[in-house]
Amino acid sequence: MSRLSVNVDHVATVRQARRAKEPDPVTAAALAELGGADGITIHLREDRRHIQDRDAIILRKTIKTKLNLEMAATQEMLKIALELKPDMVTFVPEKRQELTTEGGLDVRTHKDSLKKIIATLKEAGIRVNLFIDPEPEQVKASHRMDVSGVEIHTGKYCDANDGVMRDEELKRIYNTTLLASKLGMAVHAGHGLDYYNVKKVAEIKEIEEFAIGFSIIAKSVFVGIERAVREMKELIG
Ligand code: PXP
Repeated sequence: MSRLSVNVDHVATVRQARRAKEPDPVTAAALAELGGADGITIHLREDRRHIQDRDAIILRKTIKTKLNLEMAATQEMLKIALELKPDMVTFVPEKRQELTTEGGLDVRTHKDSLKKIIATLKEAGIRVNLFIDPEPEQVKASHRMDVSGVEIHTGKYCDANDGVMRDEELKRIYNTTLLASKLGMAVHAGHGLDYYNVKKVAEIKEIEEFAIGFSIIAKSVFVGIERAVREMKELIG
C-alpha cells in the first residue's frame, strides 16, 4: 500500500491571505495524521507566500509521522534544512511568478550545484528526493546524483484534457517509475492529483508515496481534513 504525505501549504495560503493566526497548518497536520496521513509535506518558498519558518519549526516538533520539506536548492534553504532536520528534503525548481511548481528539476543542468548540497544533507542524515518530470534522462541523471529517490511530476497527466494525451502521460509516469525503481531509487509521485485522477497512477505498485495537497485541502473545507485524508488514502490503497 502506498503512503500518503499530505501537503498543508494551502492551509497557510488561506491564513496568509489575511496575515492572520488561523487556519494553522500545524492544526491541519495533526488532523491529517488522525485521518491516516503517513507524512506531512511543506514547501518553504523563498518568498514565504504560504508556509512560514515558524510553521516548519513547530511542525518538526509536533508531527508524529515524517516531515518532507520541499525547497529550492539555495544556500539559504540548505541552512534552514540543516537546522530543522526534516526526515526528507525534496528539491523543486522555484520561480517567483508561478502559482505553483510548474515543472520538474532539470537535474543535468544543475548537477554541479545540486551535488554539493545533496552531499551536505546526506551527511546530516537527511534523505533527499529530486522532483523530476517523467523523463528517462532525468531519472538517469538523478541516479548519478546518488539520491535516495525521485518524485515524479504528475502535473501533465492531471492537466491532460483528452484521453489519448492522458494515457500517454500515464505511460511516461509508468515507464520512468519502473526505471527509477530498477535503479534502486524510491519512487514518489505528486502534483495535481485529485479524487478522480489518482486511481490510475496508484495502480503503479512501484510508487511508494504520494504527495497530495490542493485537492485534499479543498475537499476538507466541506468535509473536514480527517475525512478528506481518509478518503484519499482509500483511493490510493
Ligand atoms: N509535490 C511537489 C513537488 C509540489 O511542489 C507540490 C505542490 O506544492 C505537490 C507535490 C502537491 O501538489 P498538489 O497541491 O497539486 O496536490
